[in-house]
Amino acid sequence: MTTTPVPGGGGLGSRLFARRSLDSLVAEPEGGGLKRAVGPIQLTALGIGAVIGTGIFVVIGEGAALAGPAVVLSFVLAALACAFSALSYAELASSIPVSGSAYTYTYVTLGELVAFIIGWDLVLEYGVSVAGIAVGWGGNLNAFLDSALGWELPEAIAHSPEDGGVFNLPAVLIVLAITAVLITGVRESARVNLVMVVIKMSILVFFIVIAFANFNSGNLTPFAPEGQDGVVSAAAVIFFAFIGFDAISTGSEEARNPKRDLPVAILSSLAICTVFYVLVSLGAVGLASTSQLSGSDAPLAAALDEGAGITWAAALLSFGALVAITSVCLVILFGQTRIFYAMCRDGLLPRELARVNPRFGTPALLTVILGGLISILAALVPLSEIVKLVNIGTLFAFVLVNAGVIILKYTRPDFPRSYRVPLNPLLPLLGIGFAVYLMLDLPATTWWRFAIWLVLGLVIYFAYGYRNSRLRN
Ligand code: ALA
Repeated sequence: MTTTPVPGGGGLGSRLFARRSLDSLVAEPEGGGLKRAVGPIQLTALGIGAVIGTGIFVVIGEGAALAGPAVVLSFVLAALACAFSALSYAELASSIPVSGSAYTYTYVTLGELVAFIIGWDLVLEYGVSVAGIAVGWGGNLNAFLDSALGWELPEAIAHSPEDGGVFNLPAVLIVLAITAVLITGVRESARVNLVMVVIKMSILVFFIVIAFANFNSGNLTPFAPEGQDGVVSAAAVIFFAFIGFDAISTGSEEARNPKRDLPVAILSSLAICTVFYVLVSLGAVGLASTSQLSGSDAPLAAALDEGAGITWAAALLSFGALVAITSVCLVILFGQTRIFYAMCRDGLLPRELARVNPRFGTPALLTVILGGLISILAALVPLSEIVKLVNIGTLFAFVLVNAGVIILKYTRPDFPRSYRVPLNPLLPLLGIGFAVYLMLDLPATTWWRFAIWLVLGLVIYFAYGYRNSRLRN
């Protein structure tokens, strides 16, 4: 490997903060490289596929409980928080179009130790969230079976131990099925994803039409019962609904024309999802009362059922939720495999895991291992609290990505960029400010869990990554 550490003496500090050379990284993705098979529409669909899921179909209920009908404003606030960071992701993804997303960007800007920490942190945004999302999928499967057939899976195989079952079979099955799809190749995965995105957008359009036809403005008062605090707290939770637009950047190496297509796909998928979310949340609070939304595991279905009196719609909506959550699982698990692929390739995790399967052109072994571990987690883990832990991890990644854009502006002004964040450093600083603002609204227990997770990562780094890093060996 010809990547050159950025010079800086031989002390421990400079070893820990050794940076990968930007030029060599961009010039030659190693490890045989992945197939460049994905175009701009598929990339945008990849973003929407990762974004619209559990957040809008399930977590909106918790948002309504915190903010009342003003949850619509929470969606706007969370979108704003994402918008500045999306610009930074767009610049970095198009200038450094290699696997690994925030992990790789941090390696060239803030150095190896911080890069490892962020790679480890991204396990929360990707790996852990897939387990949680899969549990949500299982819950929706039962809601669908119940409303369509009047039959449900037995408790013992439908819930984690903490929720009164033995293990969660549907959650395991969905993770394993998606693992199989991802192994067979990214082009096929992108096609499957495109179909699911079309289905979920159609279902949301259906919801919006019915909701506005039955809109009851009486539901909007009081609009913000908990005031500004409620709106911000709901935004910190509902932020979960936006997670995923950055997952496009994890697949940079498979994009056909990354310099042009990645910024377009990142920004347009965020814009499209924001429009959907504002319309759907406005429709939901106009259709149903806050207590109807917050008291249901499937709030949108409940809104149609109780607000508009269309009972068959509950089955349709839970079917839509199943499809939506499947595509979220697909893209987010894809992202997790590509981040670990990059970390293995750099020697921070065992390199043998990152081998590209010659038949499929994908890191098959790594995908199997991750899918297996995540399915075990999905079998046993309850959904509660996962959302907040995933949010804090993602917001932390946003902070470092924005910081990376500012650092590169000054350290590598000459480096060719096909897309630049306007008004740098102002907009990236706003991105950092919004992310920290939402992080501070998350509870202390979430911060503790997050700190423990990061300490565990440091232990792994010093036990393995530090000694085996390709950059220094
Ligand atoms: N944004 C994704 C969802 O809402 C994680 O499911």
